Amino acid sequence: MTTTPSLIDRPEAMFQLVRARQQRGARVGVIPTMGALHEGHLSLVEASNRACDVTIVTIFVNPAQFGPQEDFQKYPRTLESDLEALAKFKVDAVFTPRNEDMYPPGYSTYVDPPRVAQPWEGEHRPGHFRGVATVVLKLFQLCPADVAFFGAKDYQQTLVVRRMVEDLTVPSRIEIIPTLREADGLAMSSRNRYLTPPQRKQALTLSRSLELAAQMVAGGERASHRILAAMHAEFAAAGITDIDYVAIADPDTLAAIDEIRSPVVALIAARVGETRLIDNRLLTP
Ligand code: PAF
Repeated sequence: MTTTPSLIDRPEAMFQLVRARQQRGARVGVIPTMGALHEGHLSLVEASNRACDVTIVTIFVNPAQFGPQEDFQKYPRTLESDLEALAKFKVDAVFTPRNEDMYPPGYSTYVDPPRVAQPWEGEHRPGHFRGVATVVLKLFQLCPADVAFFGAKDYQQTLVVRRMVEDLTVPSRIEIIPTLREADGLAMSSRNRYLTPPQRKQALTLSRSLELAAQMVAGGERASHRILAAMHAEFAAAGITDIDYVAIADPDTLAAIDEIRSPVVALIAARVGETRLIDNRLLTP
């Protein structure tokens, strides 16, 4: 059975719906998204359905988290097919705030994101996490859910959101849901739809090099520089030269790690054609 979820665009209506349900004892879950939904997003909806009585999905392409040279204008806006996909689940409302309500004229307040926002994505996308932290905090104000669900593919984002929620005493609990992958290993992403068939093949280098890193660690390799060299060799062999970073880092602070003595996270950001993709994997010695 499919039921098209109700659309809410007014901030007051969103807030009142959440509070009304909570007053009746319901536990409310929220999934913040920018739309262009794929199965990874839908797995967050399923997680919310399991843990909560009410599930809200927010769809807002947040201009504040895109740099001037990034893909804000061309970011896929697919509301109709998003609603069709959500209709197969129990979604109580889809919140699609208008830009003028989120950032009205004169808007000038932004969240200074936590320290963990600084390396990797922070260096390559200046201002990105300031925009993410700001919009996530605003969404939590408008949709004060009990639990918020985020995907592990955006690993650094999950650390930024967790830290911000703790530091700013936001009462929502944060749940991180494992990355969903295509059968061949490619991490699901709204940006995968930009890839041409040959680029789609090249894009597998991200998950393949993470698998290689995991195998090297499982085989006893402890020197990050040798693992990183092997990962870079995979990218070179695939003809991917536009690499923002390939890193092995502390899973909590994201400081680079030279010698692997405890679990670490491997992080990648690279462009396949024009499309910037990210992926990550925890490596356990
Ligand atoms: O992960 C995303 O889709 C976005 O960064 C988020 C969390 C919805 C904020 O715009």
